[in-house]
Amino acid sequence: MMVGDRVRLRPVTLEDLPRFVEWLGDAQVNRHLSTPRFLSIEQEQAWFEALPARGEEAPRAVDALEDGAWVHVGSTGLLDIDWRVRSAEVGLLIGDTTRWGRGYGGEALLLLLGHAFDALGLHRVQLKVAAEHTRGRALYQRLGFVEEGALRGAAFADGAHGDLVVMSILAPEWRARRRR
Ligand SMILES: CC(C)(COP(=O)(O)OP(=O)(O)OC[C@H]1O[C@@H](n2cnc3c(N)ncnc32)[C@H](O)[C@@H]1OP(=O)(O)O)[C@@H](O)C(=O)NCCC(=O)NCCS
Repeated sequence: MMVGDRVRLRPVTLEDLPRFVEWLGDAQVNRHLSTPRFLSIEQEQAWFEALPARGEEAPRAVDALEDGAWVHVGSTGLLDIDWRVRSAEVGLLIGDTTRWGRGYGGEALLLLLGHAFDALGLHRVQLKVAAEHTRGRALYQRLGFVEEGALRGAAFADGAHGDLVVMSILAPEWRARRRR
């Protein structure tokens, strides 16, 4: 469990799965995601049951502290960890759109980066974000991610292709950020 001021990251449980189905089916949420739009609860359960065998970092549920109680608002996690290079990709989702813009996404990502760099000792964390995703890009830039370039035509949203921007943060940058 990783606990911050207003956000905590915890293991995903079976009870969380119906919310994932709902969130991933929301057009506002999935607009810039590469996940399938119409996941059934059975598919989510199969994904959940297969997690231990994959031997990867477990995805984390994002909870926010509201009026003294923890509320499940999203998910995050490290994907495709390469232990030789010590690199990974990060995924982030705040599924309840009424809770966007409250700083939950940012705090969740800071907790995850702390885990990635300080606990796991990774050297590089990257993500890919649609060029059109201004909210996401602004957030990642504020957290210290650097834009590296674009994968042309690698995104598809609202019936049109767009670019995917690759962003990353390296361990020395993370440590410099912490010292500020
Ligand atoms: C992207 C996402 C994770 C952001 O979560 P969040 O909890 O709203 O993030 P925060 O509140 O911490 O920060 C949002 C930032 O966007 C800014 N922002 C808010 N509304 C915005 C808007 N309409 N346009 C551009 N920026 C906006 C905020 O000002 C904030 O930046 P700041 O902290 O520098 O002021 C969330 O919107 C989401 O899950 N979207 C759907 C899934 C997704 O796209 N995931 C990312 C894929 S790369």
